[in-house]
Amino acid sequence: MKEDLLYLKEEALHEIEKSKDLRELNNIRIKYLGKKGKLTTILRGMANLSPEERPAIGKLANEVKEELEQKFFQKGLELKEIAKKIRLQKEKIDVTVPSKVILGHKHPLTLVLDEIKEIFLGLGYEVVEGPEVELDYYNFEALNIPKDHPARDMQDTFYITEEILLRTHTSPVQIRTMEKKKPPIKVIVPGRVYRSDEVDATHSPVFHQVEGLVVGEKVTMADLKGTLITFAKMFYGKERRVRFRPSYFPFTEPSAEMDISCIACDGKGCRVCSYTGWLEILGCGMVHPNVLKNCGYDPEEVTGFAFGMGIERIAMLKYGINDMRLFFENDLRFLEQF
Ligand code: FA5
Ligand code: MG
Repeated sequence: MKEDLLYLKEEALHEIEKSKDLRELNNIRIKYLGKKGKLTTILRGMANLSPEERPAIGKLANEVKEELEQKFFQKGLELKEIAKKIRLQKEKIDVTVPSKVILGHKHPLTLVLDEIKEIFLGLGYEVVEGPEVELDYYNFEALNIPKDHPARDMQDTFYITEEILLRTHTSPVQIRTMEKKKPPIKVIVPGRVYRSDEVDATHSPVFHQVEGLVVGEKVTMADLKGTLITFAKMFYGKERRVRFRPSYFPFTEPSAEMDISCIACDGKGCRVCSYTGWLEILGCGMVHPNVLKNCGYDPEEVTGFAFGMGIERIAMLKYGINDMRLFFENDLRFLEQF
């Protein structure tokens, strides 16, 4: 019986050592130490032993049992540790691996700007940019808006010093472009502009404009109209009707504003168009002779036209958005619709 016990011990230790996971280990425990296990079976046979033999075998049996228990416990800890490592390995995420899904998409203002650029690039224009922190000279003076001019409303302008300000429109880039280039000129100028306007559904203190400037020999009002009608129909659809209204800007003469037939009611009159049937989308005009002179051009030799549009307003009309603040609040419920 002593041999049986010792053999059983070796056999059990060997199996424990070889076991690969907790389930296998538990099965081995049942096989040896369970109610119908091998050790239990051997111990039952002790009833047949003589009283002299019994104490020694009993002691040995207890030792074997204890040793096995100890071994099961240790192996259990080991296997748990291994299982944990395997799990962690499986759950490991390499955050540096590039995503297969393209996350995010373009902001509606970017989409509109891209489309405007696309249209004018197709018409042979070049895209140029200018500084947002600008000299009074470029923002006003050179654009035929002298210091005492009523069009220069102090309230609207963020001044940094007496001579330096945040540009209130993209028109100063007209001057910078004419100073740098010789005619023929055909540029658009996208950019951010600033006005100390109160925030509401149609105003923001920071917004975007796209300026356009064409200068050359015999550039006429007919060129201006043809260009802007083409743009409006490409951008808003062929079915849109377009009209020009006389207006006033110090840097253009004559000046006009262009309206498109209301997108909400198709010109019948509704709340969106204040019951006029029309929506204003841009200001424009023939470059004022004084502006050409300020850039060293001879107004007898070259003429030009210019236009400027507010991107937020253009985008609101395009997508039927009724509040400009939506563009700047970064609410995903809004952004995800584009
Ligand atoms: C101008 O800024 C002229 N520089 C446009 C121009 C260029 C005329 C070239 C002639 C030749 P105006 O101040 O109207 O014009 O502004 C142009 C557009 O900017 C407006 O039609 C409107 O769409 C947008 N805009 C004006 N103020 C705000 C504001 N606070 N928030 C958002 N958009 C505005
Ligand atoms: Mg206006």
